[in-house]
Amino acid sequence: MQRLEGKSIVITGGTKGVGRRVALAAVSAGACVTFAGRDEQAAAEIIKECGPEKRTRIQFAAGDLRKPADCEKLMQTAAQAYGGIDGLFNYAGILPAATLMETTAELFDDVFAIDVKGPFFCCKYVLPYLLDRQGGSIVNTGSVHAYAGEIDRAAYACAKGALLTLTKHLSMNYARDKIRCNWLTMGWVPTPGELALRQAEGREAGWLDKIGREVMPMGRLQTVEDHVEAILYLLSDASSQVTGSELQMTGGFWPAAPTYQHR
Ligand SMILES: NC(=O)c1ccc[n+]([C@@H]2O[C@H](COP(=O)([O-])OP(=O)(O)OC[C@H]3O[C@@H](n4cnc5c(N)ncnc54)[C@H](OP(=O)(O)O)[C@@H]3O)[C@@H](O)[C@H]2O)c1
Repeated sequence: MQRLEGKSIVITGGTKGVGRRVALAAVSAGACVTFAGRDEQAAAEIIKECGPEKRTRIQFAAGDLRKPADCEKLMQTAAQAYGGIDGLFNYAGILPAATLMETTAELFDDVFAIDVKGPFFCCKYVLPYLLDRQGGSIVNTGSVHAYAGEIDRAAYACAKGALLTLTKHLSMNYARDKIRCNWLTMGWVPTPGELALRQAEGREAGWLDKIGREVMPMGRLQTVEDHVEAILYLLSDASSQVTGSELQMTGGFWPAAPTYQHR
């Protein structure tokens, strides 16, 4: 179970949802974890949740991913504390609902700043550390909307499409350096971000579960546990021959055509 023993792993969006869950699981799997976000209170709770032994192997690095300087500082913080970096899980992101016609320039810029520019510069700044280690693993968080572009996720879908291209770029160009980059498509998870979005849309409590039962091929929304094993695998040496892959962990969810009335 110590499959990440001796590895230093950086997780963006480690304060919430799947990122939070992966941070805790990676520490349990033996890694030293640096997790990022802006929510200091959530970060303190995560560190508290680790027992006294594990607490020495986890640290929070506060920062705003929209700022490349914060992405650089995140990698410096991880490397300084744990002697280098072996893996990066790019989880942080926002997924606001807006059709193409509803998308303002400000919304577009915010989505691209967090969902593309942040991971792009995290990759740029982690690369020197992975090269120093003569290898490493990057996992990017994908969405079905990168492929199918749902009507009310115009900017988000385009941002995830760019992130998929970044995944291919890294996997193609750094395989010789034994730096791998993979993409994991999540389906539909009631994370804090997703719950806040539905609340902002005025959906009644229980709407998500109900629509999940109707729309998800396996009859339920996913949970924050569903992707953890796969992400640990992609970060570990067990996946040393896996790069450029698109792992579709969506529970069969694939909205190629409108799945529900968005208005
Ligand atoms: N939920 C789904 O159904 C679903 C489906 C497919 C893909 N995804 C992907 O999953 C990821 C998380 O999305 P979610 O809404 O579900 O998230 P979530 O679990 O609520 O977490 C979002 C994370 O992003 C961080 N974050 C947001 N803006 C940031 C910024 N400017 N600087 C630094 N950190 C920032 C947040 O940190 P702080 O709060 O600490 O700032 C938080 O840890 C995204 O990449 C999204 O595309 C989600």
